[in-house]
Amino acid sequence: MSLRIVRCDRIASTQDRARELLAAGDEGPFVVVARAQAAARGRRGRTWISPEGGLYASLLVPYEALLPQRLGVALVRALRRFGVEAALKWPNDVTVDGAKLAGILIERIADRAIAGFGVNLEPVAVDGATSVRQVTGRAVAAQALLEAILDELETAGSDLLRAYRAVLSTLGRRVRIERDDGVVIGEAIDVDEHGRLLVRGAAGVQAIASGDCVHLRPTD
Ligand code: BTN
Repeated sequence: MSLRIVRCDRIASTQDRARELLAAGDEGPFVVVARAQAAARGRRGRTWISPEGGLYASLLVPYEALLPQRLGVALVRALRRFGVEAALKWPNDVTVDGAKLAGILIERIADRAIAGFGVNLEPVAVDGATSVRQVTGRAVAAQALLEAILDELETAGSDLLRAYRAVLSTLGRRVRIERDDGVVIGEAIDVDEHGRLLVRGAAGVQAIASGDCVHLRPTD
């Protein structure tokens, strides 16, 4: 994907910077990239620890319904180019052997989306996290990975749901989905055309649009 790159040193959040540029009349497309972030945001009100040495970026692009899935597929495919055996845990946590390597945050503003992603290239002091350095034993340059992600974003458009299912480690697993309005436990059997997870549980099959997903052991 050919778009303008806005490079920043240490800033609060690339999401916020992209939002400021949009508010000032810049409708993109562009990608804001920072060397480090002081107040980066994750999903569901969490923070994203962003020391120097990681890849932190936010795309400002036209909104599209399956953008989270497209970006998730692009991240996984780009990481695999560098020998990282990445997969997606629904909805779009990038993991290696169950440890979190990268996260995605999509924020919609009218007909635009700010699609942010953070990739741990070096170890971070976060429980349950891993990094490219830890899983490959070597360094990958942030710029090289960014270019690969932008490249994969171009191609992830055709037959996106098939590509999404192919990298989704959640399918076939017993899961617990934590939502603001409660918890759903069951077997993740598929994703529908909106990217919702179909979970077969005690109440039948439910289509779930968002939430935190935990992969359970079959006996849990
Ligand atoms: C998650 O909770 O898994 C999503 C994490 C998203 C973090 C990225 S880092 C770049 C961009 N700027 C932010 O403030 N957040 C996103």
